[in-house]
Amino acid sequence: MNRKQGKVFVWPICTRIIHWIIALSFIASFVSSLNKTYLHYHVAFGWIFGVMLIYRIIWGFVGPRYATFDTFKLDLKDLQWYFKEKVINRWRKIPAGHNPASSWYTLIVLFFGSFIVISGLLLYGVQEGSGIFAFLNKEHYVHMITLFDVHLYLSYFLGIWACIHIIGVLIEQFYHKTNMVFAMITGYKKAEGKDSNISKFSNIVSYIFILVTFSIFIYIVVTYDNIVTRSIFSPVDFEQEHKTYYTDCGDCHKTYPPFMLPKRSWERIMHNLDNHFGEEITEANISKQARISILNFLTNNCAEQSSNKIAFKLINSLDKNEAPKSITKTYYWRKAHENIDPAVFKSKEVEDRANCWACHEGFENGIFDNDKISIPTK
Ligand code: HEC
Ligand code: HEC
Repeated sequence: MNRKQGKVFVWPICTRIIHWIIALSFIASFVSSLNKTYLHYHVAFGWIFGVMLIYRIIWGFVGPRYATFDTFKLDLKDLQWYFKEKVINRWRKIPAGHNPASSWYTLIVLFFGSFIVISGLLLYGVQEGSGIFAFLNKEHYVHMITLFDVHLYLSYFLGIWACIHIIGVLIEQFYHKTNMVFAMITGYKKAEGKDSNISKFSNIVSYIFILVTFSIFIYIVVTYDNIVTRSIFSPVDFEQEHKTYYTDCGDCHKTYPPFMLPKRSWERIMHNLDNHFGEEITEANISKQARISILNFLTNNCAEQSSNKIAFKLINSLDKNEAPKSITKTYYWRKAHENIDPAVFKSKEVEDRANCWACHEGFENGIFDNDKISIPTK
């Protein structure tokens, strides 16, 4: 190891790479969460973040000097002194490895980071019916809002926590001039202590881990539909599910997925076919028997019967006995489309807000994925 004057080799290349991958994947997860269309990337970055955390935790037990948890300074008195000394002695000497503040910082990142990853995977399963916990959707979909809040607030917390860390490091860099920023780039810290050494074996294992992480990322992004993203909500062929519904109700418009309205709405619609949005549908159009069969199909598959997040959110947006006679009248629908210029719905390409299929590819198969939405342009 090259011994540099007044400097200690503290962060071997793998530690540095892991540090930056954790930081960058957290930022990338955060940015990609801002637009629902990028959910896929969000999941992929989240996986990178998660696998790297696992690796960092293993590193904490078997890693090189300064990376292991037993070198962390966790005594609260030390922490107090660390901050006190920071104020009273600008040119104090700093330890080679983790100081009390960065020890606590790292543990909290690992702890809350793990919870963010776990809550994210659970949310993806419970709300979207996707990923490794997709099987939880059917039984636990009612918890999607709680899980969302947990995932969101934990992430905000960690984001703020990371900002505090960055400010702390910048103070070290520019006020105490300990060159801390560059330590995580070059590996050398202006401090006192022994150099870190890392065995060839640990180095190779680390690189394999990093390679595996990137492979997972590429796998998720490139294959798109795979074991870590697959949804249980596959496209439904309504013609196959209920031929009469498909042909009789699909005469004037494409058939609306039954889970888009509650039972009471379907009953209301089916009992008022003689005045169906200004159209008179007679028994010559749809026979009595067909109506019974269609209503049965609709109520068996209505919003209350579905674990689809859209159905759940739509029902939650309604008053207890509210029976909207169209999807577009629901608060949920209006809220989801409030940012769309009303003129778009009247345009030649869309014609009507009830023409969901103009913008939602796969609508007639019950798919409302955000990455399948496109507003038609002239
Ligand atoms: C004779 C033509 C016709 C037939 C047949 C028909 N509909 Fe409609 N339906 C319409 C029209 C027109 C609208 C109004 C679209 C709009 O809001 O501009 C509509 C709207 C709807 C809506 C509300 C969509 C929304 O959210 O705005 C639902 C739900 C619906 N129909 C269900 C059915 C069902 C179920 C059947 C079969 C029993 C059926 N329709 C058969 C003409 C028809
Ligand atoms: C003019 C194009 C357009 C039409 C027509 C349209 N939508 Fe949308 N819809 C959008 C856009 C764009 C979004 C995404 C809005 C956002 O996220 O800001 C959206 C969002 C949604 C969402 C929320 C999806 C989610 O995961 O949050 C649902 C559900 C939905 N639409 C259902 C419908 C239904 C049902 C109809 C027909 C009754 C319909 N939409 C008609 C463009 C349209």
